[in-house]
Amino acid sequence: MSATNKTLRHFLTLTDLDASEFRALITRAIELKTMQHQGKIFEPLKNKVLAMIFEKSSTRTRVSFESGMAQFGGHAIFLSPRDTQLGRGEPIEDSARVLSSMTDCLMVRTFEHEKAETLARHSSVPVINGLTDDVHPCQLLADMQTYFEHRGDIKGKTVTWVGDGNNMCHSYMHAAKILEFKLIIACPQGFEPQQKFIDETRDFIEITQDVSAACTDSDLIVTDVWASMGQEEEQKIREQAFSDYQVTDKLMALANDDALFMHCLPAHRGEEVSADVIDGSKSVVWDEAENRLHAQKALLEFLLVD
Ligand code: CP
Ligand code: NVA
Repeated sequence: MSATNKTLRHFLTLTDLDASEFRALITRAIELKTMQHQGKIFEPLKNKVLAMIFEKSSTRTRVSFESGMAQFGGHAIFLSPRDTQLGRGEPIEDSARVLSSMTDCLMVRTFEHEKAETLARHSSVPVINGLTDDVHPCQLLADMQTYFEHRGDIKGKTVTWVGDGNNMCHSYMHAAKILEFKLIIACPQGFEPQQKFIDETRDFIEITQDVSAACTDSDLIVTDVWASMGQEEEQKIREQAFSDYQVTDKLMALANDDALFMHCLPAHRGEEVSADVIDGSKSVVWDEAENRLHAQKALLEFLLVD
C-alpha cells in the first residue's frame, strides 16, 4: 500500500456513486478515450499496482483492467483461486489484509456479493467489483458512456431490459435510479430481479412479461445471456423459459427509430439475440466493449489519484 491522502472509497455497486460522480466519470472516460486514440501518454498511476482476483472467467474485464493499468504507467496482477491460497481456503479477510498491504487497489470477480463486501471491509485500499452474482457495476459505466457518446444524456429516456433479472439487470436498475431513466424489464415469470433491487429502484422500473410492449418506443434495448456463470447446469431449463425473449429485428422495429442495442458480451447468437441484431446497424456492442477500458481508467483515476 502506498502513502496517499485520498479518502478510502470502494466501488462495489453503482450506488457507491452519486449522480454527479457518475456523470463526471462518463465525461472523463470520453476524454481518456480521445487521449488514448490520439496516442497521448498519460501515466497518473506510475508505480501503482492493482491486484485482480478472478473466481469466474473473463475476457473483457481482465484485459481492460490490465491494459488500463499498463497505459496509466502501473501494473496489474492476475490472481485465480487455482494458483493462489484463496483456492486452498485462506480466509478472504486475511487475503484482503495481505493483498492490500502490498498493492494500491483490489479488483474482485466472484460469486457471492458478500465476499466482495468482506474483502472491502478488510482492505486498506479501494476494492472494485468486477462482477458478482448480484451486480456488474463496471459494465454499466461502459454502457452509459456508450449511450452518452451516441445519443447524449440518458435522463428521461426509456430503456428496455429483455431476459433474465440477473446481475446486469440489477445494475441497470441502479443506473436508472441514479441517472433518472425509465427501465422496463421484460422477463419470464420466475426470473424477475431480486426483491431488494426492486425495493431500491421501484420508482424507476416496470416489470412485465410482454416483451413486445416493453420494446415499443424504447430508446435502448439491452439483453444478456440466459444462463450466467454459475448457472451452467440450468442451461436447458432456461432455454425453454426464455425462448420468447430473443431480441430480434422484429422487436427492434418496435423501438424508436434511433434506438440502440447493447449486450455486455459474451453473446449467444440465436439465443438471447439474433445475429441480425447484434451484427446490425443499431448494435453498439463493440464500442460498449471497448469502453470498458476507458470507463475503468476513469474509475481507477477517481479512486486512486489524489
Ligand atoms: N462483459 C464482461 O464482463 O465480459 P467478461 O466476462 O469477458 O469480462
Ligand atoms: N450475467 C453474465 C454477465 C457476464 C459478463 C454472467 O454473470 O455470467
